[in-house]
Amino acid sequence: MTKASDVFTLKNSKGVEVTFIARGGQVTGIKVPNTKGEIADVVIGYETTEGALAGDAYFGALCGRYANRIVKGQFELNGETIQLDVNNGPNHLHGGNDGFNMRTWEVEEVELPQFAQAYNLSLVSPDGDQNYPGELTTIVTYGLTEDNEFVIEYDAVSTKDTIINLTSHAYFNLEGAGTGTVAEHELLLNAEKFTPIDGEIGTVTGEISEVKGTGMDFTSAKKIGETLTADCPQVKLVDGIDHNFVINGYDGSLKLAARLEHKGAGRTMEVYTDQPGVQIYTGSHFDGSEKGKLGAPIEKWAGVALETQIFPDSPNKANFPNATLKAEEHYKHTCVYKFI
Ligand code: BGC
Repeated sequence: MTKASDVFTLKNSKGVEVTFIARGGQVTGIKVPNTKGEIADVVIGYETTEGALAGDAYFGALCGRYANRIVKGQFELNGETIQLDVNNGPNHLHGGNDGFNMRTWEVEEVELPQFAQAYNLSLVSPDGDQNYPGELTTIVTYGLTEDNEFVIEYDAVSTKDTIINLTSHAYFNLEGAGTGTVAEHELLLNAEKFTPIDGEIGTVTGEISEVKGTGMDFTSAKKIGETLTADCPQVKLVDGIDHNFVINGYDGSLKLAARLEHKGAGRTMEVYTDQPGVQIYTGSHFDGSEKGKLGAPIEKWAGVALETQIFPDSPNKANFPNATLKAEEHYKHTCVYKFI
């Protein structure tokens, strides 16, 4: 049996190291060399496992059963109204108070030819967990390739029709955790559209809007700081970016979602996914009151999360991709964080 505080590390021969703990499958560190071979830890978080267990439980964590927000925690399935646990004002966020990020996953090392090292993380969520229908068995594979790709593969199956949207919640800072904000990072998104929000709590309106002419336009690489300080109503609502972007040409195959680069630090990361959306969240709620890596306060905009996903509140939005998982069918999702 795996314990919450058990620590696991994936390594390849290029000096990349991914560390995670069993509680929430939380990725607590990713060490990556830059163009000169200098190593930095590029995910924000705490210096110790005790710190990770006591701190923000979304840092680097697996979120589910439904990542992001479901308005009022309600949706209809097969003609029945389901009321989920509510933990974000009136809404359901990241699976509820006892979401998958709070669970201790069973972890087992596996040998897979495509990976230098890999682990399977598994979790059985009982029927009715946070009021979700069906017993859900989830297996997440964390794999590291010799091409410096940290690959997350999700597979889940339910005993009853249900809804699902799993994601990973690591916040990246390619200059290194604890060195400052992500304002100087350049971001490119393979997204001409995004889903606007309607207030500071960040629930989506249901519209799918063009990024053109708004602070959300990352169709060419630009500094995140330009948007953080832009006179853009959507940015002002959440004091930064906390939005779902619609990946161009979604067809279920693996596509580039985002490219993040810190030129000065000499590190670039590309994100690939087979999902329709990616939530970009610049950590506006950090207020410097917690101490993170390098002993530095975790300040506003200290990292950026790139969470591949189905859209927020899809179960209530007929024009959004379908998040229903039929009984005994498999939910599949791949996310690749590639360091260059
Ligand atoms: C959401 C934010 C939320 C945060 C909590 C993100 O995925 O987009 O709105 O505050 O998770 O850690």
